[in-house]
Order: sequence, then C-alpha cells, then structure tokens
Amino acid sequence: MGKLRIGMLTSGGDCPGLNATIRGVAKATYEAFGEEKVEIIGIHDGYHGLIHGVHKSMKPSDFSGILTQGGTILGTKRTPFKMMQIIEDDKVDKVKEMKQTYKDLKLDCLFTLGGNGTHKTANMLSEEGLNVIGLPKTIDNDIFGTDVTFGFHSAVDIGTEVIDRIHTTANSHSRIMVIEIMGNKAGWLTLYSGIAGGADIILLPEIPYDIEKVAAACQKRADAGKDFSILAVAEGCFDKDEAKLKKKERTRLRQERGETTATARIAKSIQTMTGLETRTVVPGHILRGGSPSAYDRILATQFGAHAAELLKKEKFGYTVAMVDGRITENPLGDVAMKTKFVPEDCKLVKTARDIGISFGD
Ligand code: F6P
Repeated sequence: MGKLRIGMLTSGGDCPGLNATIRGVAKATYEAFGEEKVEIIGIHDGYHGLIHGVHKSMKPSDFSGILTQGGTILGTKRTPFKMMQIIEDDKVDKVKEMKQTYKDLKLDCLFTLGGNGTHKTANMLSEEGLNVIGLPKTIDNDIFGTDVTFGFHSAVDIGTEVIDRIHTTANSHSRIMVIEIMGNKAGWLTLYSGIAGGADIILLPEIPYDIEKVAAACQKRADAGKDFSILAVAEGCFDKDEAKLKKKERTRLRQERGETTATARIAKSIQTMTGLETRTVVPGHILRGGSPSAYDRILATQFGAHAAELLKKEKFGYTVAMVDGRITENPLGDVAMKTKFVPEDCKLVKTARDIGISFGD
C-alpha cells in the first residue's frame, strides 16, 4: 500500500497559533499512522497555491521548532470565497484547478486552517467531493459553532497590553485615548481586551453607538474627577444612524465625509463635543503578530490532534471545534456560511455594564 497523502494549507489573515496547529496536525498524524506511512504536502499561500499548484513535500523535521513561531510556515493569502466561482480576466476556473491539484497530488485528505472565508471554500470543496477537514483560526473568534478559535487569546493578550500601556499616557496627560482594535464584523476581540485592559467605554459592531452618549460618558468621568478615559473601539463599529444603512452606503458616506478610521471619527467628535483632549491609537497588525500565548499553544495542539483523529476515522467534511469546553467537530455545511457575533444577551457584555462600562448605547 502506498503512503497516505495529506495536503495542508493556511488561508486568510495570519495569526499566532497557525504554526502550532500545523505542528499538532503533523505530529499527531505521524504518530497515528507512522512517519514512514505518511507524506504531508504543504500548499503555499492557501487556496492560491491550490489553484496554481504551488506546493512542497514536507519532512517531519519541517514541523519541529515551530510551536512558538508566529505567522505560518506555509504562507497565506486572501482568496475571497465570493470570487471562487467567478472566472476573472486570467480565465482561470479556480474550482476546477483546485480539484485538479488535489487529484494530481493524489491527496487522501486536505486540512484547511483558516477563518470564515476559508471555511466557506472548504465546505464548497467538500461538497465537490474532496476529503476536507477544517481547523478554526482567527483573532476575531467569529467562527460559528466553536467556543473559541486559535489566535484569539493571543490577540486578546496583545490588545490588553496595548490598553494597559496606554493608561500611562492617558493618566499623565489627562487625555481621552481612543484605541482601535481589529474586528470588522464581530467585536469579541474588543470586548475581551477592553474588559481585561480596564477600558471605560467599549464600542462594538454589534451594538451601534450614539456619539452623544459616548461623549457624555467621557464628560461624566471628567466631572467626577477622573482625568482620563480609555475607549476600546472595534474597527467595524458604527453609530445608530449608520446602522440604518447598508455597508456599501456607509462606506460611500464615510468616503464623502473624508473619514478614515473608526477611531478618527469618534475621537474628533468627542473632542468637539467635550473640549477634552482626545487622541487615537491604532495597533493594527501588531494584534496578530508574534508568538502564540500558552493558551493558544495548548488549543492549537488539541485541535491539531483532534483533526488527525478525524482523519483516522475518515470523518471528512467536518471542522474541529470546542463546544462547552470539549474538543469536538461540526459538519462544515452547518457552520461555514454563518458568523458568530456577540449576542444581544452576551453575559460578558452584562458583566461589563454591571461594573459601569459604557457601550455608548
Ligand atoms: O480576520 C482577521 C483580521 O485581522 C480582522 O480583524 C481584520 O479586519 C482583517 O483581518 C484585516 O485584514 P488584512 O490583514 O487583510 O488587512
């Protein structure tokens, strides 16, 4: 019998824990089947590499020493799901090419490590008959059906440190500091790092804000002798009027007004409305950089080992998940087209409100 042939790719934004997960999958697969019986093929730059047939055969030693490394040794790219079935100027039929590469490489299974977009394409490939197993990655923690994704807690730690460090300047200069945290659709990262970092006001895409209330919350603190305020603002948040608009209309309106980031427009309004000196901080991709936290190293290892178990059971068309603290799996078809938002009755939002944190609503 020939070797078991496994493909592996990472797609979408990089984040801490990708390499730890790659390592977990590889080591557990080698353990389960025997090193000499498995050939792992690394697909470069996610689905882009699968479309264009860019790959390399990996050795067991390739997976050593990568537990602590940030980013991904396989490289990654954003290849939007909505473009997968569209033939562009290059005339490439992406779905056909991906299936062809899978066939040419004689793969028995393809592991796809990525976020929501990655899962949508993984589900499509599974429906097209490929043996796919997904692993949930993203600092946004917005993959449906899992309590947590790898990368999230590392980013929470970084976001928390950013807010911690901003306290120094906010306090010394009696300023309002508006910190922008990544998260376009879901506010989990802002919510967690905001609470952990002791932010006074937290603004999320799921809770449209009223700028009058945001300014009033800053003023109330100033009136109470609290010299500074810290706002943790999700990059994708919007106010109650913008909430009535479609995303495209919101973007057009902002362009017309010359507004750049969420923090820029919020800071400008606060300063105008209160007269308090207001500054912005945008940590950006720093939130996704560097080594995974201990939590993510463990989660990545658990997820990786579970993915290898699914392979052993030939349970394809699933993505690994944590449900109520237990490592398990969900059918790709059940979760791939959904997003996990901060719900209206989120307990953590309630806790934050209980201690006086304002959500500007
Ligand atoms: O999905 C992860 C994420 O970091 C989001 O929080 C953010 O909106 C987006 O990626 C940024 O993407 P890019 O690195 O492609 O600019």
